[in-house]
Amino acid sequence: MKQAVVQPLEVGLKGKIRVPGDKSISHRAVMFGAIADGTTTVEGFLPGEDCLSTISCFRKLGVVIEQDGERVTIEGKGWDGLVEPSDILDVGNSGTTTRLMLGILATRPFHSVVIGDDSIAKRPMGRVTDPLREMGSIIDGRDHGNFTPLSIRGGSTKGISFQSKVASAQVKSAILLAGLQSEGVTSVTEPALSRDHTERMLEAYGVEVKRDGLSVSVEGGQSLKAQHIIVPGDISSAAFFLVAGAIVPNSKLTLQGVGINPTRSGIIDVLEKMGASIEIENKKMVGGEPIADLTISTSNLKGIEIGGDLIPRLIDEIPVIAVLATQAEGKTVIFDAEELKVKETNRIDTVVTQLEKLGATITATDDGMIIEGKTTLNGASVSSFGDHRIGMAMAIAGLIAKGKMEIERSEAIAVSYPDFFEHIEALTK
Ligand code: S3P
Repeated sequence: MKQAVVQPLEVGLKGKIRVPGDKSISHRAVMFGAIADGTTTVEGFLPGEDCLSTISCFRKLGVVIEQDGERVTIEGKGWDGLVEPSDILDVGNSGTTTRLMLGILATRPFHSVVIGDDSIAKRPMGRVTDPLREMGSIIDGRDHGNFTPLSIRGGSTKGISFQSKVASAQVKSAILLAGLQSEGVTSVTEPALSRDHTERMLEAYGVEVKRDGLSVSVEGGQSLKAQHIIVPGDISSAAFFLVAGAIVPNSKLTLQGVGINPTRSGIIDVLEKMGASIEIENKKMVGGEPIADLTISTSNLKGIEIGGDLIPRLIDEIPVIAVLATQAEGKTVIFDAEELKVKETNRIDTVVTQLEKLGATITATDDGMIIEGKTTLNGASVSSFGDHRIGMAMAIAGLIAKGKMEIERSEAIAVSYPDFFEHIEALTK
């Protein structure tokens, strides 16, 4: 286990960086390539540990995949190209790998066993295993299939109309993927719109997807055609530098080629509402996803309320938004965000306890947190608890905290942003 030490910056953050490829889109590019007919090529792939777990699982399912940094080639042989694995499928720390892969395995006529790390073992899987069982696949596991290890035997499945209790793209995607090889129509309705990368990318792979407000449906019996996928920069990784640019004195930095899909761009809305100076330039479409260059400068910020439909649009950014809120005048209230409790850690607990150590005025609530600003943060010894986004949020706080910040278990950052510390350094030169 590693410890990172972050010292307060004496200079502002200046310059341009290209953040790594989008994690959600990288997973999907590989998985959809694996079930497509033909050779799929991916550019801008995120070579973080989570996406490498997806590659490793699909190799065990018989798919030939070559990966060299950000370039990936997948030799898809269609749905029937997947074969019964002779080894356990290890998803590491990745919830997206677990849930989307279960949706694919649900219709495959063979047996697989899925395990992951200690964090995955605590994350609820009933939200996908229950509907997949209702469709007809045989799934068992710890606590009746709610937790890993899970075993799955897929087979002939029937379409369902599923009303999801949570706005979750992982749940929506798993059911739609199973629906592609099930009898009849499968539809998913969400309480609020979650990220729509699956819908966009399935269309790019030649699948017909029907959308109607909060509902999405697919007809069974559809196959995918191999594609060339260009992955946009990850707005969830960009978020750390957007916050750093806004709170570190004398900063002005540009993040190039960042995905600004409206189902993901809540962080931009929050920065604008708080009064940050942010410019969005060079907007264009890449492979069905909008991208842009984002420039942020040091700003005077004010506290705001963050809840409702905005939450699924920024759920992964809340740890660093909490850091941002400590530097805003007045109260920031984050509500309707119970889903934070079932991420890589319980992020209400981990954010609140670690920011308290730095001297922030922050209170946990049942569905979020309340932060009073503006406060001076002090360096302390904190932990990521194995959660990449907690580790990075603490490092950004460390850039403005007084004194030295020690971050235990900083190796977790490689899950989504292997070059994170190098990028901080590049912006201080
Ligand atoms: C993801 C969906 C979100 C998000 C996760 C990635 C995806 O999870 O938090 O980091 O790629 O579909 P939920 O579906 O659980 O909300």
